[in-house]
Amino acid sequence: MAIVVLNSATSGINTRTTLTERLTASDLPIRLDPTIRSQALRVHAALRTGILEGLLPAGLKLPSSRALAMQLGMGRNAVVAAYEHLLSDGLVETRQGAGTFVAAGLPAPQAAPSPPMPPVERPDRGAFALGRTHVEPAFLARLGAAVRRRIAGASLSDLDYGDPRGSAHLRQQIARFLAVHRGIRCDPACIVIVSGTQHGLRLCANALLSPGDPVWVEDPGYDAAKTALTAAGARLIPVSVDREGIDIAAGIGAAPHARAVYVTPSHQFPTGVTLSMRRRVALLDWAQRAGAWVFEDDYDSEFRYAGPPLTALAGLSAERVIYIGTFAKTLFPGLRLGYLVLPPSAVRPVLAERAAFDRFPQKFLQDAVADVIADGTVAAHLRRMRTRYAAARELLIEALPTASGGLLHPDAPDQGLHLIAYLAPEVDPGCAPWIRDRAGIVARLLSETRLIPGGREGFVLGFSGHTVADLRDGAARLGAATQEAAAVFP
Ligand SMILES: Cc1ncc(COP(=O)(O)O)c(C=O)c1O
Repeated sequence: MAIVVLNSATSGINTRTTLTERLTASDLPIRLDPTIRSQALRVHAALRTGILEGLLPAGLKLPSSRALAMQLGMGRNAVVAAYEHLLSDGLVETRQGAGTFVAAGLPAPQAAPSPPMPPVERPDRGAFALGRTHVEPAFLARLGAAVRRRIAGASLSDLDYGDPRGSAHLRQQIARFLAVHRGIRCDPACIVIVSGTQHGLRLCANALLSPGDPVWVEDPGYDAAKTALTAAGARLIPVSVDREGIDIAAGIGAAPHARAVYVTPSHQFPTGVTLSMRRRVALLDWAQRAGAWVFEDDYDSEFRYAGPPLTALAGLSAERVIYIGTFAKTLFPGLRLGYLVLPPSAVRPVLAERAAFDRFPQKFLQDAVADVIADGTVAAHLRRMRTRYAAARELLIEALPTASGGLLHPDAPDQGLHLIAYLAPEVDPGCAPWIRDRAGIVARLLSETRLIPGGREGFVLGFSGHTVADLRDGAARLGAATQEAAAVFP
């Protein structure tokens, strides 16, 4: 039997072409991949594909190694090695004195080739995209040097399986920071490093909630948190937000026995309101009575432009509150570093959950981040970024009303990296998607962050990590599109 070598540039088996005069139409179809340098591996890969795709059916006798080697112009050893490899794969079997045959009982080949992978969606990073930050090359150089030092100087234990809570050095630095800036006194033993807020929330929800458990969420609220909680099987109970933050009485009215609540008390996402002290006390009081967990997402407290922040909920009650911090805003989202501060009773279940996922997080980058916190690099970076982001915020506060002829009302609280530009009452809220498209911006609409429709409409605009020119340009386009909407859809 001779071998048909399929043209490697074509994919269909109907396009068989014989490459040498010696081959005939009754040949065995295989496709040799010229990019595989080893002859043995090239023959093995071609025969394996032929068998798995069903081109070489079960029971088919393969040519002798000598014949195949001659036909392919290769050394016989390469073909013998390929056959042995196929034998250990279980794809062929030998019969004493009879030769080598395609094995029986292999999985049936797929009828149709699998469809091409659709592109993986990434968040849109255009004008006013949320979650961007600015990072200076000098900062990256220092972080990079710290990573290199950590890896080059790794000890045996650094290379081994590690602590499921993450780097002890980073946990110490975080504990120190939280004590000074957020009024949270915690033992580093109760801190768990995670890959960001969403990962931390999901771990906690998996560990501490049961499928179907009711969980209060702020409405409007943060999509990624709702996604994580829903994925963990929670039943979301939307609770309205007013000028004092989440309405605790409304939550108790809707689901008094909820098992948890997700809140952004320092800077409600997206409205920006601060949870009043009265509501904080009411929330903790309810959580204590109901035995519910409070997931406190404190995502941007490092960026305050006036006055000190209120003490974190976790600073008021260490028993029911799980504090979730992130480096996505202070440094950059691509770092994928966040942390949980857990009440002692939650540590074991959360670590058991982590053990079932990824055992423990990688350590080198965490140690390096701890190094640049300890040597003051991060504090200096934060000081510079506060000034930069404050200027970006001011720019939008001034530009939006002017550009829109007074039809956009920016509401910028003293904290954070985004603001809301509310639509004036004279603009139909239903025009908001049209305005966004017309302006060519990627802002979330306030209505898109709500589970229960209603309330004012506005654009949630991120201002950090965008250039001054882009912010000016975006504000001009958004303002012009808003004026146009008011004129076209009176
Ligand atoms: C409300 C809120 N929490 C947390 C985060 C950070 O999430 P992560 O740490 O998963 O990147 C963001 C980012 O935009 C946010 O808006």
